[in-house]
Amino acid sequence: MERRRIVIVGATSGIGREVAMELLRQGWHVGVAGRRVERLREIEALAPARVKHRQMDVTREDAPEQLHGLVEELGGMDVFLLCAGIGRQNPTLQADVELGTAQTNVDGFIRMVDAAYDYFRRRGGGHIGVISSIAGTKGLGAAPAYSATKRFQNTYIDALAQLARMQRLAICFTDIRPGFVDTDLLRGDKRYPMLMNPARVAARIVRALGRRERVCVIDGRYRLLVFLWRLIPRWVWERMPVRN
Ligand SMILES: NC(=O)c1ccc[n+]([C@@H]2O[C@H](COP(=O)([O-])OP(=O)(O)OC[C@H]3O[C@@H](n4cnc5c(N)ncnc54)[C@H](OP(=O)(O)O)[C@@H]3O)[C@@H](O)[C@H]2O)c1
Repeated sequence: MERRRIVIVGATSGIGREVAMELLRQGWHVGVAGRRVERLREIEALAPARVKHRQMDVTREDAPEQLHGLVEELGGMDVFLLCAGIGRQNPTLQADVELGTAQTNVDGFIRMVDAAYDYFRRRGGGHIGVISSIAGTKGLGAAPAYSATKRFQNTYIDALAQLARMQRLAICFTDIRPGFVDTDLLRGDKRYPMLMNPARVAARIVRALGRRERVCVIDGRYRLLVFLWRLIPRWVWERMPVRN
């Protein structure tokens, strides 16, 4: 593979951390970012010559500056992968949960994806991957902000993919949409069916990036679920008690 440098934002735990580990095994140079700096240092300690880290909070205005600093330290970036995201069930509509989710998954998402787009525009091309979710397929009553922000992410990437073509830029996009994965994101919430192992999900993500897949739903069972959900008319969906 000729593309060997990736920056992963949201690499301190869960899916992002597993992707970082998998790519390190494959010999990539990896820039890792997130708020929990001690976890970033742990990853860097595994391969100091090939890992650089930056503490970064995507909700802060200085995050793009941090990204550019990390890219410089890494010696350039071929792939940008945004894994930072939060979400929880919130049927009581606590305002701080709903608004906080939008701050990270919408404001932070725009901030980081646009910063990566700008870098690749100036460099003449590149690859942007994001972890959205199958939750964006339909409005989920138990998690309104989460499902709405994930739909936002899907649409934003659709728009940027069109923009890149309009601007004749060689930037490609991979929108990764996993079903339930056994990570900290789900801990403390209810029980979840068809829970997937993060390392296996990471291996699938690495494959999707390698093949430059435009949209990747993980896994096959969830592909079927998404297909069926899309067939459900709104008036039926609104009457369905989807609890997870
Ligand atoms: N788990 C699932 O079932 C599932 C399913 C579909 C999609 N996803 C999506 O996958 C992505 C990764 O989630 P995960 O399941 O791996 O959960 P996770 O273990 O909680 O990982 C979330 C990552 O996001 C980072 N993050 C959160 N807020 C941030 C902020 N303000 N600035 C920078 N980094 C931030 C966290 O790092 P710090 O806390 O150190 O900043 C952490 O590295 C999320 O977008 C999530 O919506 C998850």
